[in-house]
Amino acid sequence: MIRKSVIIIIIALLCLMAVRCRMVFLPNQEELIAEETKELIVVGFSQLGAESDWRSANTESMRSTFTEENGYQLIFEDGQQKQSNQIMAIRTFIQQDVDYIVLAPVTETGWDTVLQEAKDAEIPVIIVDRMVNVSDDSLFTCWVGSDFELEGKKAAEWLNQYTIKKGIDPASLHIVNIQGTIGASAQIGRTKGLADAARTNGWDLMAEATGDFTQAKGKEVMESLLKQYHNINVVYCENDNEALGAIKAIEAAGKKAGSDIARGEIMVISFDGVNQEALGYVLDDKITCIAECNPLHGPRVRAVIELLEEGKTPDKFSYVNEKIFSADETVTTLEVDGITCEVTILKENPSDRQEDRKEQ
Ligand code: AHR
Repeated sequence: MIRKSVIIIIIALLCLMAVRCRMVFLPNQEELIAEETKELIVVGFSQLGAESDWRSANTESMRSTFTEENGYQLIFEDGQQKQSNQIMAIRTFIQQDVDYIVLAPVTETGWDTVLQEAKDAEIPVIIVDRMVNVSDDSLFTCWVGSDFELEGKKAAEWLNQYTIKKGIDPASLHIVNIQGTIGASAQIGRTKGLADAARTNGWDLMAEATGDFTQAKGKEVMESLLKQYHNINVVYCENDNEALGAIKAIEAAGKKAGSDIARGEIMVISFDGVNQEALGYVLDDKITCIAECNPLHGPRVRAVIELLEEGKTPDKFSYVNEKIFSADETVTTLEVDGITCEVTILKENPSDRQEDRKEQ
């Protein structure tokens, strides 16, 4: 009887020891999770907002690139169009001691202080899409995005070639520009591209007003411009969402969006080439020409991070190659900045354009 209770005590002691040994030598659940995430590269991404289809495609590109399967932990913050929110997000990323900060800035200026803080914390900052205008370029590691002024020049040169080929008097062009968010690189470059061409070619650029890159604002601004100016024959919209809004306003005013300005149509020129409805409108001749702005930056930013991980130095500025789309075959090539650019004539299913972009 005594021997039996001794055996039970010994077994109990052994069990206790086994539990203690496990506590001492085996990692608990939290330690296991920490171990698993330790390998992941942590990227804090401050996205400026969700104002357009371009922006949604850009966010999706980042989310689908910086996945755990690819070795990343992505911390995503939506700035909701406010620079103050983006600055707050960057400060939080610094506190979290992320490995990289990726910033898609809403406007160009106002970043010096917070980028200095990131530099002091020795966290590399990659700027994506729009640029930052800072006093010291060493405040960011590198930038990946579009040449927005070139996009504007291409769209304007397309219009110039169109008028030449159709024999339209340049002075008879009465243009309004629905601009993007004021102070954003995409607005600055595209506005300059048009304004310079208007001066050079003798076009009547009657008004510039911001549509904030949104459909609602594009419609609102076009409604008011149509009331103010009765001779508009070209509307230059600084993105496709604004163009969709402007077309609604044109049609609501009983006018027609189209390339036949000699017959009273209003020609719509736009940027992006992401929104499927806008690409469909090119085929319908409601939008005459779109200068592409490519949003698929996720893999490009990842390539930069991989270089940095290998201890290499990426190019400070990487520009994406972009096309110009039209369904009208009047203009097939453009000369811009001494470079010949083929116009991509849309005929097929517009969703094919997405495939085109992935290959670049
Ligand atoms: O900065 C890129 C621009 O921002 C895109 O043209 C526009 O659609 C977006 O909102």
